[in-house]
Amino acid sequence: MSDRMPHEVRGVVARSRGTKVSVETIVVPDPGPGEALVQVQSCGVCHTDLHYREGGINDEFPFLLGHEAAGIVEAVGDGVTDVAPGDFVILNWRAVCGQCRACRRGRPWYCFATHNAAQKMTLADGTELSPALGIGAFAEKTLVHAGQCTKVDPAASPAAAGLLGCGVMAGIGAAINTGGVTRGDSVAVIGCGGVGDAAIAGARLAGAAKIIAVDIDDRKLEWARGFGATDTVNSREADPVEAVRKLTGGNGADVVIEAIGRPETYEQAFNARDLAGTVVLVGVPTPDMKIELPLLEVFGRGGALKSSWYGDCLPSRDFPMLIDLYLQGRLDLDGFVSETIGLDDVEEAFAKMHRGEVLRSVVTL
Ligand code: APR
Ligand code: ZN
Ligand code: ZN
Repeated sequence: MSDRMPHEVRGVVARSRGTKVSVETIVVPDPGPGEALVQVQSCGVCHTDLHYREGGINDEFPFLLGHEAAGIVEAVGDGVTDVAPGDFVILNWRAVCGQCRACRRGRPWYCFATHNAAQKMTLADGTELSPALGIGAFAEKTLVHAGQCTKVDPAASPAAAGLLGCGVMAGIGAAINTGGVTRGDSVAVIGCGGVGDAAIAGARLAGAAKIIAVDIDDRKLEWARGFGATDTVNSREADPVEAVRKLTGGNGADVVIEAIGRPETYEQAFNARDLAGTVVLVGVPTPDMKIELPLLEVFGRGGALKSSWYGDCLPSRDFPMLIDLYLQGRLDLDGFVSETIGLDDVEEAFAKMHRGEVLRSVVTL
């Protein structure tokens, strides 16, 4: 029964290390067993896309970029029961397997064998594409594993909803899932881009009593207030460790979230937390980076030093819940959408991201 038809659509491709991305015709197969074809409605521009095009992730060029996306399921392959054509979904890069050691121990957010589509999308000449984070959604259509489609309330704006697919979920999850922020906590967030502001929004949702935003850019600090920061510290002007201590009665914060990925800001996070507090690293460092900490302090301060991968999220649990809170007006996902752009504007969006002018540029289709 091979009446399957490949689809020719436009997609944003990184052909080789460091060269500008281009919009190309790509060929997307019809879904096979366990797969879903998704008509993409929105996809946010994330640092990871830029890292792919710079060759910082791996060398498997050409890449089909884009991974913070929402859309409508167009078709599903054999055996797919969780989603159906017409469903509004957020794409995720944690389609858990249910079989690996982490899944079997009841910790599926650590799943070691997450699913992706088995068939390859290609360029028009048949060259296989590597989809960013197994998604590849700067394209009119993309092919994913059905488990990568998380159904949510279609009343949500696609541009806002798609951001839960990566950066915003990473930030919210860093606060709520990894940091365990709870009612009455004091929280400091170092680095207030899209991820840091999402951590601030998450801390507010969880009932934190004090939320201190730390950044070197006053405009970012102003935006951070909009997401729930109760206090702000420009760490170019004031020592952030002293400032956080002062704002927390001399103690330090219960939870400090590092949302940049740099040794000096990680050390600030380590020193700005209270005894028995928690540090969460959600910013992504580069391979050359090292930290040096007094081991006695690591012991003596107690508490926990944690890292947060994709906000330790479980898409099936977290996406629908966060979309419901968004629709109730309790989580400002629209606030992360700095601008909407077209597929042709991704390269320019990288430049804006680099200059720190946006929280998220979002491609809408
Ligand atoms: N001290 C304080 N703030 C800083 C510093 C510093 N030394 N250096 C940069 N910042 C601030 C920037 O001003 C900016 O507001 O950190 C923020 C970083 O935000 P973005 O560049 O917008 O990055 P974002 O998308 O939030 O991602 C942050 O998380 O998922 C990872 O790969 C991602 O490592 C990146 C991090
Ligand atoms: Zn698993
Ligand atoms: Zn991302």
